[in-house]
Amino acid sequence: MLITCKDNIFHIRSGGESLLLCVTRKGRLLQLYCGHILPEGDYALSAFPPAPAGPSTCPNTPDGDEIESVGTARSAYPTAGLGDFRPAAIRAVGADGVDALDLRYRGHRILPGKPGLAGLPAAYAPETEAETLEIEMQDGKTGLAVTLSYTAFASLPVIACSVRAENRGDAPVRLTRIDSLALDLPDDRYDFLHLWGCWAMERTSERVPLTHGGMKVASRRGASSHSHNPFAALLRKDASEEAGEALGFAFVYSGSFQIETEVDFAGQTRLLMGLNPDNFSWLLNPGETFQAPEALIAYSDAGLGGMSRAFHKFISRHIIRGPWKDRDRPILVNNWEATYFHFNTEKLLELGRTAKDLGIEMLVMDDGWFGAREDDHSSLGDWFVNEKKLPGGLKALSDGLHRMGLMMGIWVEPEMISPDSDLYRAHPDWALQIEGRPDSPSRWQYVLDMSRKEVEDYIFGRLYDILSSAKIEYVKWDFNRNLSEVSSASLPPERQGEVWHRYMLGVYSLLERLLRAFPDILLEGCAGGGGRFDAGMLYYCPQIWTSDDTDALERLTIQQGTSICYPPSAMSAHVSAVPNHQTGRMTPFKTRGIVAMGGSFGYELDLTKLSDEEKAEVKRQVALYHQLAPVIRDGDYYRLENSDTLAAWETVSADGRQVIFSAVIPYARIVNTHIVRLRGLDENARYRDIETGKVYTGGMLMHAGLNLAPYRLRERDAVLVRFEKAE
Ligand code: DGJ
Repeated sequence: MLITCKDNIFHIRSGGESLLLCVTRKGRLLQLYCGHILPEGDYALSAFPPAPAGPSTCPNTPDGDEIESVGTARSAYPTAGLGDFRPAAIRAVGADGVDALDLRYRGHRILPGKPGLAGLPAAYAPETEAETLEIEMQDGKTGLAVTLSYTAFASLPVIACSVRAENRGDAPVRLTRIDSLALDLPDDRYDFLHLWGCWAMERTSERVPLTHGGMKVASRRGASSHSHNPFAALLRKDASEEAGEALGFAFVYSGSFQIETEVDFAGQTRLLMGLNPDNFSWLLNPGETFQAPEALIAYSDAGLGGMSRAFHKFISRHIIRGPWKDRDRPILVNNWEATYFHFNTEKLLELGRTAKDLGIEMLVMDDGWFGAREDDHSSLGDWFVNEKKLPGGLKALSDGLHRMGLMMGIWVEPEMISPDSDLYRAHPDWALQIEGRPDSPSRWQYVLDMSRKEVEDYIFGRLYDILSSAKIEYVKWDFNRNLSEVSSASLPPERQGEVWHRYMLGVYSLLERLLRAFPDILLEGCAGGGGRFDAGMLYYCPQIWTSDDTDALERLTIQQGTSICYPPSAMSAHVSAVPNHQTGRMTPFKTRGIVAMGGSFGYELDLTKLSDEEKAEVKRQVALYHQLAPVIRDGDYYRLENSDTLAAWETVSADGRQVIFSAVIPYARIVNTHIVRLRGLDENARYRDIETGKVYTGGMLMHAGLNLAPYRLRERDAVLVRFEKAE
């Protein structure tokens, strides 16, 4: 049993994690504990938080409940307006115009398995591997009912939670905030870690102490965004990469979000995660329900790295779906940095021939194959093949590639519309726009109003025709600008606050329909690089283009940052040309290969222009990656170092028998005494370096470390060492 209920206390045990909730005499739902798994037993000691510091600090509960004040109670799902002065997880305005809620326990049920969430990405699990607790709360005055769901999983320390609201009253209620995760922790001895960034510099990690008062990271862009990622962690002060306690939070959603912390005067920490209230309001008429997206809480007592590995396994097993989930992803060449918009069938077939000779398995045709698109100024929405570039259409190209033994992938950007497109000329109102205000193009394009069913249907029809017209195994789904002028011609004024979320529901519906129609297709997410790299997109796309920055040294930080929450196999990573197109930097071919092999591997350069030596290197890399791929996909990933002078990481296969160690010297110093301690090995086992035959004990590699001096690495050099556990 993963979830128990005894003496009004719910104990949710997921892998090594426990979450304790308790219902008070008067039906308030408190949160008692979240962290390391607890034995079943008597929880009374932890039940009630301190009283307010002084009588005027917080109002007392008027109904003689066990708690003295909602202002200091650790609430499982805090509300506004009735004496809790910290931020509320839910806000709702009733018919009287008043913004206050008092949610009280009405009942609960424990279900086997993990129910899906209508229209939204969510974790899934076989019935035998998970249990879900649904607690129903209701506000007596408005009739707003809220169901809090918590799912525990048998083998991983991750709890999935979500919230559903239903108006059981007889007047409309306007929701203005509905978070998916609310955590009230009894102290503030944590650091807050989050991932910030910008285009071509996504997911840079930043660790800062929690402070009294509030902190927020958020996206108001209609996408999870390059700027902030819908992930955060609370790390104990003494927690490091591999030791100490970490709580991690990931939002299974790809639109605007907010993560907020507040430390109160009593030193308690509240953390909230959910839809960004700045981009949200939802009118709930009597009888209507609203389902908020899902959020995940991971616990680790093995530091940030332990938390990452819990998320990697969870996302790989319970979020990523479809036939590609457990399969080696094809090694591909993408023509974007090879040709940009300037290609035709002949050029692509030439690229394909070289790719095939080198052992590459797929060619992905990027932007520029449709409408009149010769640059990024036009044609988004005109999803018809440009026969001038591709005579005979997609079929001729696909047949040509398949005859060579290559698979074919194609780029699309379905959520966009160029003002210079036939689609825009026919349906100008299909773009998001505010009547009477100018539109703001970004990359010369507008965003389609995906909240409208007819828009979704039209785009689905075009994608369906394209994907039916030829054998296409892979789709790269791009999204190159954020949402502005967010208003929908199809919704009345009182529902305009719903457009941001309805947009995401439209996108998810489109993705789901596409996957149902073409279940074998491998979808790769993309958003001007990694501008929508989140657990929501991973439900549809087993891999996501990590960043438009393909510079190997820049990728070290981007990929290590991304790995804090997301599995390495979800990170698409390509070898590109030098000088690098984003930074102008030169790096050795070998280094570019080793860095790209840290994720789902491919190339993004004109292979026909490579020297014979480089082509030989590609063949070696391809052969090597075939051996690495299953380990990268299912293994345990360790971040070992990331400084200006050394970056190193390691993956240990699920059975512990294979170890892949990689290191790069970004900046060389005269004295380079790099000794890197490996992780996750068996102390007493012996590990053989596959290339040199040298044997080390696990203890030696983990405690004394691997000395990089013999590899004589100079600046920008890299090394990849494979160890095999000896019998
Ligand atoms: C942005 C993507 O990240 C690139 O890889 C490429 O597909 C371009 N868009 C094409 O416009």
